[in-house]
Amino acid sequence: MPRPTLLLTRALPEAVEARAARDYRLRRPDGPDRALDAASLLAAAEGCDGILCAAGDALDAATIGRLPGSVRVIATFSVGTDHLALDAARARGIRVTNTPDVLSIATAEIAMLLLLMCARRAGEAERLLRAREWNGWAPTQLVGTTLDGKRLGILGMGRIGRELARMARGMGMVIHYRNRTRLPPAEEEGATFHADDDGFLASLDALSMHIPGGDATRGWLDAARIARLPRGAVVVNTGRGTTVDDAALCDALRSGHLRAAGLDVFAGEPAIHEGYHTAPNVTLLPHLGSATGEARDAMGFRCLDALDAALLRGEDPPYRVA
Ligand code: DGY
Repeated sequence: MPRPTLLLTRALPEAVEARAARDYRLRRPDGPDRALDAASLLAAAEGCDGILCAAGDALDAATIGRLPGSVRVIATFSVGTDHLALDAARARGIRVTNTPDVLSIATAEIAMLLLLMCARRAGEAERLLRAREWNGWAPTQLVGTTLDGKRLGILGMGRIGRELARMARGMGMVIHYRNRTRLPPAEEEGATFHADDDGFLASLDALSMHIPGGDATRGWLDAARIARLPRGAVVVNTGRGTTVDDAALCDALRSGHLRAAGLDVFAGEPAIHEGYHTAPNVTLLPHLGSATGEARDAMGFRCLDALDAALLRGEDPPYRVA
């Protein structure tokens, strides 16, 4: 039986590429390694049995509707699925899988890194040295605040949120959370559940956002919710950039209502809201959440496990989201 044809929309870690090349005829889009627009994706998908895509690839309803009939499965190299029109895939009988669990620690580490950078002003400090403007130690220079004893609010207590809670407890933080459903008491480990946004936000010194993108969460952190946070709070987002009203966040950073923000994700990335370029009290990372060798290999293997089940063995793939 000929090997199935698999479209890899992006360059992948070496071990993942090697395994894919062993089991599939590989197809790649023309041009540099970048998120694909609809036209490039549709051209590259011609004659493919499966697609291994990634966040940013334009797999909206119109594009999925025009995929060739040969495509039976789409495996996304991400836990987030907001770049994929799942209903459109269901309507066409195309199965879709993602990569749960394996990037939870890596992403929680980036959230913790941003919390620390915000609290201790590490971004500002690094920029000072790089600009050759440091004149030496001073008692009042770049004074931040400790995380010890502070209240961390985790918005979205899924796998990543729970990993962050574990790390933050080790830093002496007190955990509050807001989630669709309350965790069983054994999994709360002392964390305080909030059933409403206002009470949650008012209880925090730092907010870490772990909610998915998409229409339901667009602009969740808006001016009204920011106003509920106590003055001097820190905001960190490693989920999806679309969940933040960028103009409102920039206003709150400029006015001093918020101490600092740490962002790893952006609406419309790689473009970012202009206000972030000039705000001193914001730390910006280029969507590094899952960027460890361990996590990226495991994400690729999860994709291939799903594709193998569907395309090599004719089975229902694991990690299905549609
Ligand atoms: C994910 O897996 O969703 C990460 O944000 C990378 O896209």
